[in-house]
Amino acid sequence: MNKRIGIGLLGLGTVGTGVMNIMRNAAGRHPLVHQLDLVRVAVRDLKRERNVEVSPLLLTSNPQDVVDDPAVEIVVEVMGGIEPARQLILRSIAAGKSVVTANKAVIARHGEEIAIAASKSGVYVLIEAAVGGGIPIIEPLKQSLGANRIDRVSGIINGTTNYILSRMTKEGVPYPKVLKEAQQLGFAEADPASDVEGLDAADKISILSRLAFGGLIDREAIPTRGISDLKALDIDYAKQLGYCVKLLAVSERFDKDTILEKSLSLGVRVQPTLIPIDHPLAGVNDVNNAILVEGDPIGEVMFYGPGAGSGPTASAVVADILNIAGISQVAARRGSVDPLLAAASWRKCHLVDPKKIVQRNYVRLRAVDTPGVIGSIGTCFGKEGVSIQSIVQFDVSEGNAEIVVITHAVSHGQMTDALIAIQALPEVKGISAHLGCL
Ligand code: HSE
Repeated sequence: MNKRIGIGLLGLGTVGTGVMNIMRNAAGRHPLVHQLDLVRVAVRDLKRERNVEVSPLLLTSNPQDVVDDPAVEIVVEVMGGIEPARQLILRSIAAGKSVVTANKAVIARHGEEIAIAASKSGVYVLIEAAVGGGIPIIEPLKQSLGANRIDRVSGIINGTTNYILSRMTKEGVPYPKVLKEAQQLGFAEADPASDVEGLDAADKISILSRLAFGGLIDREAIPTRGISDLKALDIDYAKQLGYCVKLLAVSERFDKDTILEKSLSLGVRVQPTLIPIDHPLAGVNDVNNAILVEGDPIGEVMFYGPGAGSGPTASAVVADILNIAGISQVAARRGSVDPLLAAASWRKCHLVDPKKIVQRNYVRLRAVDTPGVIGSIGTCFGKEGVSIQSIVQFDVSEGNAEIVVITHAVSHGQMTDALIAIQALPEVKGISAHLGCL
């Protein structure tokens, strides 16, 4: 008879319920799924009504009971939040148990501490569900794309904001109205800050960055802008110019022409970005996510699919459980872990000064509609070496003009200096929007 594999769940919310549903309904899935045995489940409130039937004998309100239970071989952390999740992960590792987690906030901030502890204990911490929900992206970066020198990882990695932006684009409605409806429909959290301010995407790009480039970056130093101050008007202007607007997370090699083994500088950011409508990322709508990986020799490869939700996220969690179940006996005999799967850091990565990041830009200005205003704006850009790709006057009302500029690729420092000079022009009333542009 095949050996049973004891699973302990920390959390029985949306993702935990999805994991239980897969384990309970193993027919037709990989034979290893049949060997998984749910032995203990930690929940916050023992009395709460649940979407899944679970024996009260399995439940505990003390998560340490799950970690410490000798029958639990693999701990699945799907409770979220930083603490006590971090401590419980470390406690599981110390007890010699591998961990599967969907917790991007913990991994983005404490991933190295956790990876070092796991390596010392000879166990795995697998995180496929932490980025992109059901999309396989973590294992491909760790293994399938391992032969590549990666140049860039970019993507739409927050489902909530993509849903909101998709509706703003399709329906032309303002952000606060769409957010409210998204909350009523359950597509946005009651407290949406982490999603709409770009923090969730910043957690995820820091995780992808470490895997793609082999070194940690400082999560807190990632320049991050969300969508909460984005105006429907800019989405409309972008559309008229042949672009859509997405919350894009990017991590790219800064010194593309130098191959540095020991250290690497990376340009990393999260910001609302104009994307040409014929670009593969432009067709990624609603709660879907997509990650575009560019490397040598693969070229471009895009991973696309449902970025959140119970079933898709549980699909990634259970795949990680199976990975551990499949290799754990072999690894235990060898007394060492598979270095690809464990994904240890192998070099240092630094964030470049954000002023040096080079990209195209979209700027919307309000100016007095007088002769020479476009010339003055052009002169300010020219003095800072900012080359304009297009400049369009959109609307004139009460003597004011809306001027939209798309630049060629320039450094953020040049762009900022030019915008300071433009803002000081007497004809310019203000800079209403400044977005990235692919
Ligand atoms: N809040 C996340 C999102 C869920 O909207 O993408 C999955 O990480």
